[in-house]
Amino acid sequence: MALPVILDVDTGVDDACALILATLHPDLDLRAVTCVGGNAPLPDVVRNTLTVLEACGASAVPVGAGASHPLLERPVDARHVHGDDGMADLGWPAPRGAVDPRHAVDLLRETIDVAAAEGTPVTLVPLAPMTNIALLARMYPESFARIGRIVFMGGGAMVSNATASAEFNVFHDPEATAIVLDASVDHDVSVTMYGLDVFYGPQITLADADELAALDDRGPGALGAGLMRFMSKRLTSDSATIGDAGAVALLIDPGAVRTERLPVRVELSGTWTRGRTIVDTRDWSGDMKHDPHGLAHAQHVEVALEIDGPRVARLWVDTIKGAH
Ligand code: RIB
Ligand code: CA
Repeated sequence: MALPVILDVDTGVDDACALILATLHPDLDLRAVTCVGGNAPLPDVVRNTLTVLEACGASAVPVGAGASHPLLERPVDARHVHGDDGMADLGWPAPRGAVDPRHAVDLLRETIDVAAAEGTPVTLVPLAPMTNIALLARMYPESFARIGRIVFMGGGAMVSNATASAEFNVFHDPEATAIVLDASVDHDVSVTMYGLDVFYGPQITLADADELAALDDRGPGALGAGLMRFMSKRLTSDSATIGDAGAVALLIDPGAVRTERLPVRVELSGTWTRGRTIVDTRDWSGDMKHDPHGLAHAQHVEVALEIDGPRVARLWVDTIKGAH
């Protein structure tokens, strides 16, 4: 039976790669997509998400618009990475589909509750600043408790990008990440962190992009090729990561990623370190017992530390090819 999943996105070139995988792979049942401001302003994120679902023949999947701003921070975007429209400036026609009338948090609540009532709790895959998920935890804790598992793209044990300390999704809304990690402990929801330590592993070459481009004109092949060609050019490289899609691939092929169960906390106040995920890799109990800070509340996080990048990249390409 296909695994019920919800993606929370700030589409985004690599969010689009994740949506392609989640809509096309037979092991996954994409129940809903929720949008948050991040890589681009919320309206662009919603439009881009509808465009991807339409290209993949998945326009029936409900798309909810959520938070346009983080809980505290002023919004900053990453259009210098993802393009002016937030998704590779492909110039495709506007999507025909419409956003769901429910706010993203209500769409999350209803989708989670229905799946739980069916006896198949959803796997929630946040691939963006976790503002919507934090609002769910505060507004509808009983629904948050019904989540089967959270696999989020964010943070890093040893790698950062938005600042010298922090990864973009967590840096954009550190309080939201802290709230979600705490709520996952309080409601006994398992959490996997797919951070920057593995994020750049799965790379798509320009030759892969040529294979995909030959598959269709306005479908997942052309879309995947356009996304990867844009990002390769933007980063002046001969390949590009599928980024967020790796967190979805982990659900399909968990053996491609090595994780360790480690305490994780989020720095909320450091001038140069705000938004850093502090992954506690110490292994001597004496140090930990004498730590004046004590251990993080979230000691249950499965942190992805290594990945078979080519294996995951091949899964993404083969899934698109297999859909033709
Ligand atoms: O730091 C990488 C993350 O920030 C990815 O989710 C990317 O889409 C951006 O949201
Ligand atoms: Ca993202």
